[in-house]
Amino acid sequence: MVGKVAFVAGGSSGINLGIARGLSAEGAQVVLLSRDETKLQSAATLISSEGGRADWVAADVRDADAVAVALRRSAERQGSFDVVVSGAAGNFLAPANRLSSNGFRTVVDIDLVGTFNVFRHSYPHLRRPGASLVAISAPQAVRPMAEQAHAGAAKAGVNVLVKTLAMEWGREGIRVNAISPGFIADTEGTTRLISTPEARERLLNTIPLGRLGTKDEIADLVLFLVGPKAGYITGTVLDCDGGLILGTR
Ligand code: COA
Repeated sequence: MVGKVAFVAGGSSGINLGIARGLSAEGAQVVLLSRDETKLQSAATLISSEGGRADWVAADVRDADAVAVALRRSAERQGSFDVVVSGAAGNFLAPANRLSSNGFRTVVDIDLVGTFNVFRHSYPHLRRPGASLVAISAPQAVRPMAEQAHAGAAKAGVNVLVKTLAMEWGREGIRVNAISPGFIADTEGTTRLISTPEARERLLNTIPLGRLGTKDEIADLVLFLVGPKAGYITGTVLDCDGGLILGTR
């Protein structure tokens, strides 16, 4: 990844920060985007303390104009993007009959429209040939989960979006894939969905490998997917979930 530029939307925390750190550790110059300047600053400082180079830009992925400006300015500073990761997400548990239309739309706007905004507005600034785009999906997209109508619908949209973009942009040497992390330890997403030790135990019983995943395992998969050994892979959604979507025994 030495000499490559990686733009990571949602990169100030959680799985996406883990991905940014993994890309940086392999030599990429990373650019982080999220809403929160304080979190961005501390994420960039962390990456610098590990010997990497991280720039950042604050924007809400729901705001297409702000995303377009952020990507344009970053490309002017760092050059064309070799890697774009779209992982900014919002989620909470809510039964559909108590979820407002605005609550549903908010998650679809962040996860699905946000991913469209990031990929669409990175398009003019992508390295051709060679750019690799990775969206962060979720098991709810293919294995429905109660109280997750909003997130499941949004991520199902992400799965089809990456396949469509892979078709449209493949001839330009641009690959577009998604990763579907299951429940990953020490992330806000997992904490929001399993709030008690009993819920954690119940969840572990549904995962064939019987444990949560790690942020490093997701970062390693992204590194493989954006690297030369995955050069013929596009339009896929790779599960990295300990077998969660297979169902229980
Ligand atoms: N249950 C039901 N509805 C909820 C909810 C919950 N736990 N949390 C938010 N909502 C609804 C709100 O009531 C509101 O709808 P309304 O106007 O009809 O009342 C709507 O969602 C928007 O909420 P708001 O707080 O204004 O949105 P926001 O843009 O400030 O925040 C969220 C977005 C809701 C996704 C927020 O949780 C967030 O910012 N999350 C980011 C971090 C995160 O989720 N990380 C995990 C990623 S997997």
